[in-house]
Amino acid sequence: MLRTHTCGELRIEDIGKEVILCGWVQKSRDLGGMTFIDLRDRYGLTQLAFNMETNPGLCKEARGLGREYVLQVTGAVTERSSKNPKMPTGDIEIIVSEITILNKAQTPPFTIEEHTDGGDELRMKYRYLDIRREQVRNNLELRHRMAIETRNYLNGMQFLEVETPVLIKSTPEGARDFLVPSRVHPGQFYALPQSPQTFKQLLMVAGIDRYFQIVKCFRDEDLRADRQPEFTQIDCEMSFVTRDDVLETFEGLARHLFKTVKGIDDIQFERVSYSDAMTYYGSDKPDTRFGMRFVELNDVAKGSGFPVFDSAELVVGIRAEGCASYTRKQIDELTDWVRRPQIGAKGLVYARINDDGSIKSSVDKFYDQQQLQQWCDAMKASPGDLLLILAGDTNATRKALGELRLEMGNRLGLRRSDVFSCLWVVDFPLLEWDEESRRFYAMHHPFTSPLSEDLSLLDTDPGSVRANAYDLVINGVEIGGGSIRIFDRQLQEKMFHVLGFTPEEATNQFGFLLDAFQYGAPPHGGVAFGFDRWCALFGGSDSIRDYIAFPKNNAARDVMIDSPSAVDNQQLADLGLALHKQHHP
Ligand code: AMO
Repeated sequence: MLRTHTCGELRIEDIGKEVILCGWVQKSRDLGGMTFIDLRDRYGLTQLAFNMETNPGLCKEARGLGREYVLQVTGAVTERSSKNPKMPTGDIEIIVSEITILNKAQTPPFTIEEHTDGGDELRMKYRYLDIRREQVRNNLELRHRMAIETRNYLNGMQFLEVETPVLIKSTPEGARDFLVPSRVHPGQFYALPQSPQTFKQLLMVAGIDRYFQIVKCFRDEDLRADRQPEFTQIDCEMSFVTRDDVLETFEGLARHLFKTVKGIDDIQFERVSYSDAMTYYGSDKPDTRFGMRFVELNDVAKGSGFPVFDSAELVVGIRAEGCASYTRKQIDELTDWVRRPQIGAKGLVYARINDDGSIKSSVDKFYDQQQLQQWCDAMKASPGDLLLILAGDTNATRKALGELRLEMGNRLGLRRSDVFSCLWVVDFPLLEWDEESRRFYAMHHPFTSPLSEDLSLLDTDPGSVRANAYDLVINGVEIGGGSIRIFDRQLQEKMFHVLGFTPEEATNQFGFLLDAFQYGAPPHGGVAFGFDRWCALFGGSDSIRDYIAFPKNNAARDVMIDSPSAVDNQQLADLGLALHKQHHP
């Protein structure tokens, strides 16, 4: 090795040792008689010292070293005269006797420090420089630990890691596919997997019994902070299990990760039905770090002549504890906030409970104190609280109030990134009606089993059938989702029929799975977790990009390698895709 130690490991006990270090010049300080350089590698920083009096030649050489030069230095570990308690190596420095410049470096386009001067796009273009920064490197280390601990836990539970193919077949369900043209079969295409769903089910038919894979998935969908076109799943499947077996097994995985990666021991898992989640939080991924549950006020608020409430399908509110002191301006601001097109509420009704118990509302014209007191009783409000109430169509109003609840959570500091609240949302609807295409879509995917007690409704009222499906939600983030699967050919065919497939279409696209179900398919179910999302959550960030070594930007581009990019006509011709003939004058 070119080095005896790393830049993060030398301590006071090492004083007197002759060492060789390799690393990058983080910064240098020239104090006249002395020159200091901070040498950085993956493990930390070590101060190098050069003395003008005792070694003027070397000291001059050190002064000529630019930022990010790659050095190998030999020297003696010495106690520092002024120690730096903030640095793990802050008690020592290296009195350098020899420098080898392993490589020079141009001045980097941004400072490689905690508070860098580089903007997002620039740091993405030079991602390899950004990764030299401690925070970015820490994120990758966190991701590594998560992967190792995931494997440790699942291996201990008899899960077998099996790789599934990346060149597969396009199917129209779900998000848009990324396609790969076949050269050998002109005009035909592979698709990149949106998930290994059908393969993991086939592995159950194959008797693998417990499968997992930390696997890249590809979806051509719009990007957001928590979405990338290629992302990673912890994908899992089990045979001979009920829903509760699956949930318990993966509560175990979550507990293991919380304990080993975050050092947190006492994680509880609530289970909430989809219907309750919508009723009490207006979201299928509620943030349960704080309460502020919805209270429906139809009984006490309708019928008093206030037209907005009287004509509404739903009147529903939240109680913001201690917010009665909100000024008129703050409330107007909230009203504007809920009226934005993204939220879509028409207005906001408030009632504040003053310290003397009197109630001041924005609809005092229509309600007397006694009536307002009924609202307060329903909402268990006490002096000092502020009630925020929306009204309108049920679904839209719940959604808008759900957003307002999160906003109030933010304003009140109730969404701390070091507090974790986990829950399973269960009993999702099986199907979602799409008005535009006038057909049902599977809410999870077409392989999800209906709840057995709802099976008979599949013919009469498909929209009301519940699925044996579940999502893991942590702090309002959908971390994972899965289901108990259909494993019977007839039921799977019926499902395709409900989704509007002709028998030919079903056979064309999923014949392999339908066939497999005829050869002894075991009952099975599973789940997949968004690995990038889980890492971001543990790291305390909203953006999964920070936890991916080489992510795409908001426009789905890799600005470092400049991808996607055009290819030459010959390449296209080889694939049978040459669209433009070259015109020669
Ligand atoms: P689903 O589509 O819910 O289920 O995906 C599972 C989890 O993957 C994460 N995820 C994403 N993360 C980053 N970028 C994306 N574009 C993205 N899309 C999804 C989410 C999500 O909860 N095969 C089924 C699982 C199963 O039924 O077992 C599936 O893929 O955290």
